[in-house]
Amino acid sequence: MYGKKKWIVMVVSMVFMLGLAACSDTDDKDVEEEEEEKTMVFSDALEQYPVWFYLHGEPNEPTKDSTIREMFVFEGEQIQQFDLEPVDITLGEVSEYSDEELISYVEEELSAASDSYEEPEAKNYTLDIHLFDDDESDNSEEKTGVIDVVIDEEEIAFVAWEQPISQTIGEADFIGLVNDGDPEVDADELFITRVDEPSLTITLDQPDTTKSVVTVQEWMERQKQKDLEGQDLEALAEEELEKINNHPGADIYAQNCLSCHGENLEGSIGPDLTLAGDRFSEEELKDISQNGKDNMPPIMSDNEEDADVLAEWLSEFMKE
Ligand code: HEC
Repeated sequence: MYGKKKWIVMVVSMVFMLGLAACSDTDDKDVEEEEEEKTMVFSDALEQYPVWFYLHGEPNEPTKDSTIREMFVFEGEQIQQFDLEPVDITLGEVSEYSDEELISYVEEELSAASDSYEEPEAKNYTLDIHLFDDDESDNSEEKTGVIDVVIDEEEIAFVAWEQPISQTIGEADFIGLVNDGDPEVDADELFITRVDEPSLTITLDQPDTTKSVVTVQEWMERQKQKDLEGQDLEALAEEELEKINNHPGADIYAQNCLSCHGENLEGSIGPDLTLAGDRFSEEELKDISQNGKDNMPPIMSDNEEDADVLAEWLSEFMKE
């Protein structure tokens, strides 16, 4: 069940499409269409439109009967999160109220539904936006990203939003973000608010933002960097392993020591030797091989040459 600490998943792909808002609007809008398309960064949208709704909708088609799961009220640098699971409030209903009316209506409904209802605490929040360029798109203005809404330093929202949405429902125009990214879930996730300008489009905050509630990270870049480093490490490890195995010491070890110290020097009858190079000098290693040590019998007493090579191998590779 969607609850307090669960992720709301929100990856945002902002498509700056002109006239997007007009799609669902069949009214005669000649006057508005002459106005410039207005875009607003996400953090500004939260300031200007403080009440947001989280819900599941039919793919791309929230209707007036869609039930709201959560309501978020953003104010200053604080957020209140209302869990609406106990009540059945639909988008059609909320389209009739002003923000203030709506908040008191929701609180009334919630307290009627449960004696133990308490107004949710206002908590500090941060928007942690990770931007990355969409490789598949030639449109340089198209930015994809992930928005984490971090509340009191705990990530509560990581919403995979793939496209902006704009729709008139009942009395009100809604805009926001839709996620149809999870093929497991047949309904879309919506994060929307009511607006007074239906032609508004939301974009992500830019990396150079100075807003204190927004951190913008070049997430994808870092992710790529990490993958590269991961590959390098793997390549390095493989190279190192090859060196270890190609050194003649490896065969000498296998013939004389493996039976007691294990295939990978992990130890069996005798102890782990993977750090023998740190614990003993090359001289000492040669000495132990030839003369044994405590419970270890002498092994290579009359093979000076191989004992040298083996000691070199152990002391070069079997260390941190
Ligand atoms: C018959 C089993 C056996 C064989 C074969 C054997 N060892 Fe050991 N090795 C031991 C045992 C048992 C010890 C633990 C000695 C003790 O401390 O009582 C030991 C200890 C050691 C130690 C000291 C490890 C430590 O951390 O204290 C080194 C180094 C070592 N062996 C290297 C070798 C090398 C190199 C070879 C191959 C030339 C080899 N051993 C072959 C049984 C064996």
